[in-house]
Amino acid sequence: MIWRGYILALSFCCCCLLLLAAPAPAPAPITHPSEVSALLAVKKQLVDPKNNLRNWDKGDPCTSNWTGILCFYNLGKDGYLHVQELQLLNMNLSGTLAPELGQLSHLKILDFMWNELTGSIPKEIGHISTLRLLLLNGNKLYGSLPDELGYLSNLIRLQLDQNNISGQIPKTFANMSCVRHLHLNNNSLAGQIPPELSQIFTLLHLLLDNNNLSGYLPPEFSNLPDLRILQLDNNDFSGSVIPASYRNFSRLVKLSLRNCGLQGAVPDLSRIPSLTYLDLSRNHLAGPIPENKLSENMTTIDLSDNQLKGSIPGSFSDLPSLQTLSLKNNFLTGPVPTNIWQNMSFSTSARLKLDLRNNSFSSIQGHLNPPVNVTLRLEGNPVCKNANLLNVNLFCGSEPGEDKMLTNFNDSIANCPIQACPTDNFYEYVPASPLPCFCAAPLRIGYRLKSPSFSYFPPYIQPLEVYLTSSLKLSRYQLSIDTYSWEKGPRLRMYLKLFPSINVNHSSTFNVSEVQRIRHLYTSWTFPVKFENENQGISKGILVAVAVGGVACAVAMSVIITILITRRYTGNRHAMSRKCLSTKVSMRLGGVKYFTFKEMALATDNFNSSNQVGQGGYGKVYKGTLPDKTVVAIKRAEEGSLQGQKEFFTEIKLLSRLHHRNLVSLVGYCDEEGEQLNLKEA
Ligand SMILES: *[C@@H]1O[C@H](CO)[C@@H](O)[C@H](O)[C@H]1NC(C)=O
Ligand SMILES: *[C@@H]1O[C@H](CO)[C@@H](O)[C@H](O)[C@H]1NC(C)=O
Ligand SMILES: *[C@@H]1O[C@H](CO)[C@@H](O)[C@H](O)[C@H]1NC(C)=O
Ligand SMILES: *[C@@H]1O[C@H](CO)[C@@H](O)[C@H](O)[C@H]1NC(C)=O
Ligand SMILES: *[C@@H]1O[C@H](CO)[C@@H](O)[C@H](O)[C@H]1NC(C)=O
Ligand SMILES: *[C@@H]1O[C@H](CO)[C@@H](O)[C@H](O)[C@H]1NC(C)=O
Ligand SMILES: *[C@@H]1O[C@H](CO)[C@@H](O)[C@H](O)[C@H]1NC(C)=O
Ligand SMILES: *[C@@H]1O[C@H](CO)[C@@H](O)[C@H](O)[C@H]1NC(C)=O
Ligand SMILES: *[C@@H]1O[C@H](CO)[C@@H](O)[C@H](O)[C@H]1NC(C)=O
Ligand SMILES: *[C@@H]1O[C@H](CO)[C@@H](O)[C@H](O)[C@H]1NC(C)=O
Ligand SMILES: *[C@@H]1O[C@H](CO)[C@@H](O)[C@H](O)[C@H]1NC(C)=O
Ligand SMILES: *[C@@H]1O[C@H](CO)[C@@H](O)[C@H](O)[C@H]1NC(C)=O
Repeated sequence: MIWRGYILALSFCCCCLLLLAAPAPAPAPITHPSEVSALLAVKKQLVDPKNNLRNWDKGDPCTSNWTGILCFYNLGKDGYLHVQELQLLNMNLSGTLAPELGQLSHLKILDFMWNELTGSIPKEIGHISTLRLLLLNGNKLYGSLPDELGYLSNLIRLQLDQNNISGQIPKTFANMSCVRHLHLNNNSLAGQIPPELSQIFTLLHLLLDNNNLSGYLPPEFSNLPDLRILQLDNNDFSGSVIPASYRNFSRLVKLSLRNCGLQGAVPDLSRIPSLTYLDLSRNHLAGPIPENKLSENMTTIDLSDNQLKGSIPGSFSDLPSLQTLSLKNNFLTGPVPTNIWQNMSFSTSARLKLDLRNNSFSSIQGHLNPPVNVTLRLEGNPVCKNANLLNVNLFCGSEPGEDKMLTNFNDSIANCPIQACPTDNFYEYVPASPLPCFCAAPLRIGYRLKSPSFSYFPPYIQPLEVYLTSSLKLSRYQLSIDTYSWEKGPRLRMYLKLFPSINVNHSSTFNVSEVQRIRHLYTSWTFPVKFENENQGISKGILVAVAVGGVACAVAMSVIITILITRRYTGNRHAMSRKCLSTKVSMRLGGVKYFTFKEMALATDNFNSSNQVGQGGYGKVYKGTLPDKTVVAIKRAEEGSLQGQKEFFTEIKLLSRLHHRNLVSLVGYCDEEGEQLNLKEA
């Protein structure tokens, strides 16, 4: 059965040539020469220990499939092909970024994240006005941010985090009028945050944490209509306060101002309807905690390590989604309320951590008998000295450790024979497979939520799985969250496995186009922000927060490895269809008419042998009639003679240039590869 599928795939993948007298078309397209020279200059300044760019000297960038380069299918108005994406993430590249990058004038995605690049960001990048994503995070870039980046008026995502960029944030950044994600965290940026950034009305995530910023917090930020995440931890705004206007944020989900040297009072944030995560810990905040009830969607409240006084507001007992409440190391007084967990939803894997250590709590209000999923820590409070209180000792000792990394949520593979998958490391059981004990080679993806809006993951695993699989258009069983762990920040790193779908072929590997599709979704951040709520009893607000966190992720896919796997384990039967597939990215010949396989089949009465007029070494030639009654000769390459797309296109190119009167000329071509992917009829 499997064989049949592939053979069919091959015959759909046939290559057809149309030959007959017709006007001669234009010469074969090439990449714009200035872009070719720019790419060569880029390569020259890179150090490439794994030789990933070894094919960057053969042929044309767009038509010879240079690594990491994606081009527009169609010719530009200038008659050239143009580079659309430069995707060189996670390739161990070092060296510097060449200023010639600025010559890639049609570029939409510039992605060098997770390499070892040094040097500064060339200001010339600011001239690529078409740029949508600029992703240079996770390198060792230094120097200051060029003002010119502010000219990128089409940019929607700027990720420069985890470098060592210094200097100030340029005011010109206010001109990036489309930008939604501004990730400049974990650098050495200094000085005042430009209040002008509040003019970027599209801004969703502003991550400036872990820099050396100072001055004051711009009050104008509260005017940003869509801002969801404001994260400024570990900067030094000594002497300033949290602006009163911050109570006016309209859509803020997460406010994180940990360790910022802030003074003054905790603002009343009860009017922010979507707030779920508030971290104001390790500042010098004083006074009482505001009484008004925060959003029902709160998962995390961290006010630890301040100088807060007064008692715990009664409204904290009315937050059903609460996971973490940390008030340790303050001067809080009064009783410890025992009804904080009264509204906790135990329908999901809920958990509540209450950390009240090192305060001045002197009594217990009510009966102290929290459910198992509530951890309460009281040591360092006067109440611990009161030995008469029931149960108190249980909460005054030193406590169990932190969250452990959880592995492998349950599967249907428990009853499968051990090690029955092909004996190499790539295959494994698909945990949630509807087909029992189905072995497949997964695509592994490292995924990091840069700013999760919860502090305990298990209740959100399922919504995240739903979100990811629906965004990737996969079935639920195709995803398995393998492991996850919290990192400093807090950031949540997880490793996902994606499994191929169980289709008619029972194919146990992804094909190349599927890998490319998934990779593209990841690397271009085209995930939808909204996703379906499968009635899981979790409020919508939280789901949105998960989604937003999910979009703010960094990704590294082992695509190259997986392509190798696909190769190695599908053997020869895949070789042909892969060849056809992989050219799809760059092969479309301008100036030569393109026909579909269906049109060709129609013209030749389904390649009826009565229409066959010749046979060459390469395959058969048929007489065909186009819908406009033009009679044509159609050359159909045979499966066995598929000498390769390259030769095929070379032949077309050659023919398209020949104008000799005695020679038939090219009308068009067909190089159908799309259809064999949908083998449902087979
Ligand atoms: C295109 O490049 C990729 C990655 O370098 C390679 O795996 C693939 O075989 C190439 N395809 C062709 C047709 O050259
Ligand atoms: C590539 O980078 C990874 C992780 O950054 C590292 O483990 C590996 O040794 C590097 N390989 C080379 C050839 O530099
Ligand atoms: C980052 O740059 C600063 C100077 O701007 C330098 O002092 C520091 O050592 C650099 N840090 C790293 C990790 O390279
Ligand atoms: C935006 O750009 C214009 C020129 O293009 C410049 O005059 C203006 O100062 C810039 N705005 C900011 C806030 O830098
Ligand atoms: C960001 O910087 C902080 C403080 O320097 C550090 O603890 C944290 O690990 C960094 N995060 C990343 C992802 O590099
Ligand atoms: C941070 O900025 C202050 C001035 O505001 C400066 O004195 C200090 O050296 C900077 N620290 C780093 C690590 O760049
Ligand atoms: C918050 O918004 C209200 C109107 O919505 C306005 O009256 C008030 O002055 C604002 N507060 C601050 C501190 O900006
Ligand atoms: C929480 O529980 C209290 C007392 O049972 C109740 O009055 C309140 O409405 C509950 N709140 C929510 C959000 O369920
Ligand atoms: C505690 O959490 C576990 C999962 O972590 C969940 O299965 C269990 O139902 C919870 N228990 C209660 C009493 O909610
Ligand atoms: C509580 O205070 C004691 C004494 O000041 C200190 O040693 C301890 O680290 C504090 N505990 C926490 C959790 O900060
Ligand atoms: C997970 O699998 C183990 C072993 O098959 C089983 O005992 C357990 O009940 C499962 N847990 C869940 C939550 O399905
Ligand atoms: C917060 O939760 C409430 C009630 O669950 C919900 O109606 C609302 O949409 C949430 N807020 C946001 C901004 O999602």
